[in-house]
Amino acid sequence: MSVTVETAARTAPAAVIVAIDGPAGTGKSSTSKAVAAKLGFGYLDTGAQYRAITWWMLENGIDVDDPVALADAADKPQIVSGTDPSGPTITVDGVDVSGPIRTQHVTSHVSAVSAVAEVRTRITELQRAIATGAERGIVVEGRDIGTTVLPDADLKIFLTASAEARAARRSGELKGKEAADLAATQAALAKRDAADSGRKTSPLAKADDAVEVDTTELTLDQVIECVVTLVEEKQQAKA
Ligand code: DC
Repeated sequence: MSVTVETAARTAPAAVIVAIDGPAGTGKSSTSKAVAAKLGFGYLDTGAQYRAITWWMLENGIDVDDPVALADAADKPQIVSGTDPSGPTITVDGVDVSGPIRTQHVTSHVSAVSAVAEVRTRITELQRAIATGAERGIVVEGRDIGTTVLPDADLKIFLTASAEARAARRSGELKGKEAADLAATQAALAKRDAADSGRKTSPLAKADDAVEVDTTELTLDQVIECVVTLVEEKQQAKA
């Protein structure tokens, strides 16, 4: 019996953990989802988790400008992330919040909420539990995955793009009333980047051992292909 277990443990391919970080509008989500789907991996959108906790704070009348109130409430919401890249889900206390977390109201407060250390500790614990439970592999996208959440990830990618390219992409994603003009979108992104990069606790940053990919001049398919190749090289090295 023990022989069978040992053999299985030796032959089962080790899960590959991929961290993809970078600012908004660099193609992180589209790339991460597509790479995960191609390789049969799970996918975790950590920005959605910070958006979900922000949504809960706003819904429950917590003063999002008061770090002490945010810290006190950080443990209360139950956030559950589904990691299927073809249909990632997110619920808070059993409520599907995948739509509400994308509103401008949540977007404009998420940097303040995610700067609170107690909020980050709580969300980081969730992220590590999901990543270490991945059977085949997982692509985890965010801002501090390679530096803080999963410093031992097998592969770290840091996506960048020019401010103009990022604003143009983000503008194209927004619809109706929320489709601000390009200059306003660029200003909003710059403000969020400055807050995310400048906060004290695990800011947006490139890990020393991350591969930087500038997506300004690349199509989405080219970025996906580049990342898939890098993951496959790691898989072969691990086998
Ligand atoms: O990826 P996104 O734009 O949905 O992320 C929303 C916000 O969440 C982002 O402005 C900062 C925060 N965030 C974070 O602080 N750390 C992460 N790992 C992911 C997101």
